[in-house]
Amino acid sequence: MTLLPDVDETRVDQESDAGYPAGRTTAASRPPVNASPDLDFGAGVELALAASNHLFNARNAPRYVAQVLQGVNAVATKIERTSQPFTGVGPAEMKRRVDAVDLDRPLPDTAAALDELQDTYLRDAVYFHEAKYAAHLNCPVVIPALVGEAVLSAVNSSMDTWDQSAGATMIERRLIDWTAERLQLGTDADGVFTSGGSQSNFQALLIARNHAVAELRLDPSNTGLRLPALLEKLRIFTSADSHFSIRKSASMLGLGFDAVVSVGCAADHRMDPSQLAAAIAAARSAGLVPMAVVATAGTTDFGAVDPLAELAALARGYGAWFHVDAAYGGGLMVSNRYRHLLDGIRLADSVTVDFHKTFFQPVSSSALLVRDGAMLRHVTYYADYLNPEAAALAEIPNQVDKSIQTTRRFDALKLWLTLRIMGADAIGALLDEAIDLAARVGSVLSADPDFELAGKPQLSTLVFRYRPVLADGTRLSENRSDSLNPAIRAAVFASGEAVVAGTKVAGRHFLKFTLLNAEATLEDIREIVELVRRTGESLARTAPAGESAAAVREARA
Ligand SMILES: Cc1ncc(COP(=O)(O)O)c(C=O)c1O
Repeated sequence: MTLLPDVDETRVDQESDAGYPAGRTTAASRPPVNASPDLDFGAGVELALAASNHLFNARNAPRYVAQVLQGVNAVATKIERTSQPFTGVGPAEMKRRVDAVDLDRPLPDTAAALDELQDTYLRDAVYFHEAKYAAHLNCPVVIPALVGEAVLSAVNSSMDTWDQSAGATMIERRLIDWTAERLQLGTDADGVFTSGGSQSNFQALLIARNHAVAELRLDPSNTGLRLPALLEKLRIFTSADSHFSIRKSASMLGLGFDAVVSVGCAADHRMDPSQLAAAIAAARSAGLVPMAVVATAGTTDFGAVDPLAELAALARGYGAWFHVDAAYGGGLMVSNRYRHLLDGIRLADSVTVDFHKTFFQPVSSSALLVRDGAMLRHVTYYADYLNPEAAALAEIPNQVDKSIQTTRRFDALKLWLTLRIMGADAIGALLDEAIDLAARVGSVLSADPDFELAGKPQLSTLVFRYRPVLADGTRLSENRSDSLNPAIRAAVFASGEAVVAGTKVAGRHFLKFTLLNAEATLEDIREIVELVRRTGESLARTAPAGESAAAVREARA
């Protein structure tokens, strides 16, 4: 594969050493203004002159193209030559290699730095685009989003204020409106891009908390009480299977981990509305305030979508904020075949959507949507040096008024270019493939006597364990399976041939596939299953098992 930069990178780097491009007479190639011959050129000035060749500007545009192409080429070459998701390198070896780099002695040029990067990063990175990467909620990324990434980092707009972003603000706003429309949140909806699902959930709960506190302050019996006294009473209800960022958020918001009431799920891992009703009623009768109900649309392990409409009705009945964490399931909004799984999401007060999961965007790209845009005022603070109140009154669109971040990347551009180049249906089709693949893998695993599937796949995850049926017709004991499965996962990771995740179900160790790669075939995943089986057999043979390893061998015979 050849990608030809239209400048000679070697020459450009030599020029960089010389200070500034020799022999160029255009205004753009002139040295910086303080490089006057009248001034005493100290070593610092020489260095600054040389360094200025690395600045992204008009004069250095050819250098920018050449160097970025070198970087892009290094990645493209690497992925063309990669056939497995990982090399199996361990942390000690990587630390040794990274520590050996002398950060105070720069290399002569970009080529040398990229060469060094092979050893310190590229060769041994974990590659999510590989078919046998089947671990966490990392997606292969689409090329239009990578184009967006290149553009946004070079232009480097910052989303906090209009005077640092201009069109970027309008693109972000338009995408928020588009997402809210897809979710049918209504015409008052608004939102903001965030760094990820955890931050979106945090901001949703921050708004819910401040909303609840504002309500409590209307009660005369709370007059004069300081914030901590009011927070004492607030409770968040979420399923036992929801993401840990809900509990972390409660802690960071001053409510404490124990302000989160864990609600039981039905056998399919969806929150049980009757248990939610009972939990809220119990809290109410104990004098507590149901601040929020957090439903999940696509739980991390089982891909379960909670019964959104029923939970929304309960939340509303008790005056609680209804947040839907659709970090994983959000991509269903562009699926033509599985969109119905999000039915009821339109009733949410707020929704988290992670574009860097099921919209195939590079990290990071997420959004928080709120049904009533005015609720974003709970994170609005004005500063004279940045976003004075006068600017808001003059309707200057400063996005910092809606965000908990200040300086913020223009991540929305990646989604924008994705929609403009591929279209929403194409994204939905990629997700549909992953969901279909998970269903097929589910059939394979449930028919295999060596494996136990913890539940029918609902989105694109499969939770299972290696627990073979032994010669006497019983399965390997739970305890033995508990020591074997994490060991299988570690050994598979160390092999680099595949990457699978691990989790616990009712205290027992399981393995997990998270499938998000539309190019992965059933055969690819079968090969991972075989690798897991072989690894399990071999570990059972060699490990000093509480339960006879011979039993497993017998099962094979
Ligand atoms: C359901 C759910 N919510 C939230 C998150 C957190 O998202 P992020 O990793 O982008 O912070 C995850 C991550 O996997 C998730 O699965």
